[in-house]
Amino acid sequence: GIEDIKLEEYSFGRRAWLYKYRGFVFPNLFLDKIRNIHTFDVREDDVWVITFPKSGTTWVQEIVYLLMNDLDTEKALKLNIDIRFPYFEFVEPGLQAIAEMPSPRLIKSHLPFSILPNQMKNKRPKIIYIVRNPKDIVVSYYSFAIKFLKMVPFNGSFEDYCQLFVSDKVDYGPWWKHVSEAWNRRDDDNVLFLVYEDLHLDTGKHVREIANFLGKPVSDEQVDMIVKHCSFESMKQNNSVNYEWMKDAGIANKEVQFMRQGKVGDWKNHLSTEIVRQLDDMVTTKLPPDLSEQIKDS
Ligand code: A3P
Repeated sequence: GIEDIKLEEYSFGRRAWLYKYRGFVFPNLFLDKIRNIHTFDVREDDVWVITFPKSGTTWVQEIVYLLMNDLDTEKALKLNIDIRFPYFEFVEPGLQAIAEMPSPRLIKSHLPFSILPNQMKNKRPKIIYIVRNPKDIVVSYYSFAIKFLKMVPFNGSFEDYCQLFVSDKVDYGPWWKHVSEAWNRRDDDNVLFLVYEDLHLDTGKHVREIANFLGKPVSDEQVDMIVKHCSFESMKQNNSVNYEWMKDAGIANKEVQFMRQGKVGDWKNHLSTEIVRQLDDMVTTKLPPDLSEQIKDS
């Protein structure tokens, strides 16, 4: 039984519909792609970065790219991340183009573990998942999906958007279900589970952890170089990762930044006490207890 339900028509002026497919919410733009994903050919030497949106995907992608490419910062600065590390279920470049990429492929996806290709189970490619606290995610998600991107008409308030998040009606939601599925696989030897807030505390330590996981050991000097190249300040200035190209392409608003703040705890400047209460409640009641303990929001 594949559940495929059209959720009620969006209010707040949003004309698109969201669909619930196998327990998760997707925009109709992606739905046809997602239906075909289960038959996609996975390779043992693929490296997948999988996240709920706004959890630090781009940060981890850039670290992984450098580790997998002999720290070729020159190439990293020159080529857009979407080319070096394509977004699996997105319209561009599409499944066919990704199927034809030379090995080792680096692939980004926001799909939950339960909707990844069937072959993930036996091919066992390397998978890196990163989780971030939902309070900073909702602030970041609103800024990105509603303010930065032009394609989503939405005339509701920030509070309205937060309500959609807590009622599991944002793309790729429910957040708690997405992270729980990855958490349940954290002990698989092909899975590395990371925490955005830990990466902040000691980036170098986690660069080394990712390097060991990928089988690409690094020297102290190399770790320092990666940390520097992948700092928020540096990535904010780096046009191959800061998504400024979306502004040139006319699909993003000039006055908003993809590289917004890159901080832990900025939610304190934005969220109402009611939303904070509901998100705290989500973390304590919907996540496995040992995962709840990993969620750090200050
Ligand atoms: P904010 O909106 O809170 O600033 P994703 O890449 O999954 O879309 O996540 C984007 C979020 O990660 C944004 O959060 C962005 O600023 C932050 N981010 C991107 N690069 C970062 C870096 N090098 N260090 C810390 N945070 C980073």
